[in-house]
Amino acid sequence: MDRLVVVTGASGGIGAAIAQRLAADGDRVVMLARRADRLHELAERIGGHAHPVDLAVGDDVSRVCAEIVATHGVPDVVINNAGAGRFTSIEETSNREAAEQMAVPYLATFHVTRGFIEPMLARGSGTIFAINSPVAVVPWPGAVGYAAARFAVRGFTEALRQDLWGTGLQVGSLSPTRVHSDYFEANPDSVQRVPRVEALVGKMTVEQVADTVAHCLQYRPDKDTYAPWRWALIAPWARVFPSAVAALYRATGHRRR
Ligand SMILES: NC(=O)c1ccc[n+]([C@@H]2O[C@H](COP(=O)([O-])OP(=O)(O)OC[C@H]3O[C@@H](n4cnc5c(N)ncnc54)[C@H](OP(=O)(O)O)[C@@H]3O)[C@@H](O)[C@H]2O)c1
Repeated sequence: MDRLVVVTGASGGIGAAIAQRLAADGDRVVMLARRADRLHELAERIGGHAHPVDLAVGDDVSRVCAEIVATHGVPDVVINNAGAGRFTSIEETSNREAAEQMAVPYLATFHVTRGFIEPMLARGSGTIFAINSPVAVVPWPGAVGYAAARFAVRGFTEALRQDLWGTGLQVGSLSPTRVHSDYFEANPDSVQRVPRVEALVGKMTVEQVADTVAHCLQYRPDKDTYAPWRWALIAPWARVFPSAVAALYRATGHRRR
């Protein structure tokens, strides 16, 4: 497609799969994450560009975004995918960890978007796209800081869509259900905290998420999408009957010992 696409969190999991899929479609892909070795290896393999950076550090992100614009041009698509953070209850979360949970994904999403927004506004086109989580639709027990940061990404996405209305820029998101990736390897205690109701909606592979992102960028760049289809059927009910859906996730979710 020959779009210039920036993908954050592209050193593994969902982000790497998105970068690979879009590069195969003909896009020019610029990848951000901290692990330089993994980024450079993927960039070489798919023909993209690696820009290692800690997305929690706003000044570093501003510098890297300016470098990208100077070297590659103004992005057509920015995919805010980077995420981290354990699922923990409030008493298990230190003040420091709460701040880290908010730094990535929420502040990372803000920093990257802020870093590109002025040249994108000047051009009057482009898509800002977030990879979010079901926990931003219906919070579940035992993941307080994680859910709060995900709600921040959802709030940012919706507020940005309002803010950019009429500018020619589009704002969208995809919230997939549980995905087989390194996330649960790095946070082994978190998998037990996914509510059992998740069995109704199923899991996804990183390749399926990447395919869905490619579809969204083409057909739904300004919408919030939920995948797979069984989750897409349930997610809207969380807005119509929030208490009932929250009770279902509570009944099938983590309990304090
Ligand atoms: N896995 C799931 O079940 C699932 C479901 C729904 C949504 N999601 C969301 O999808 C996104 C990707 O998740 P994943 O499953 O692919 O997780 P993952 O395999 O753990 O990958 C996370 C990515 O984020 C990057 N990252 C983390 N902190 C960073 C920082 N401070 N600066 C720069 N990059 C940073 C990591 O790169 P470095 O470590 O190299 O920095 C890595 O590339 C996340 O936002 C996640 O919440 C995941």
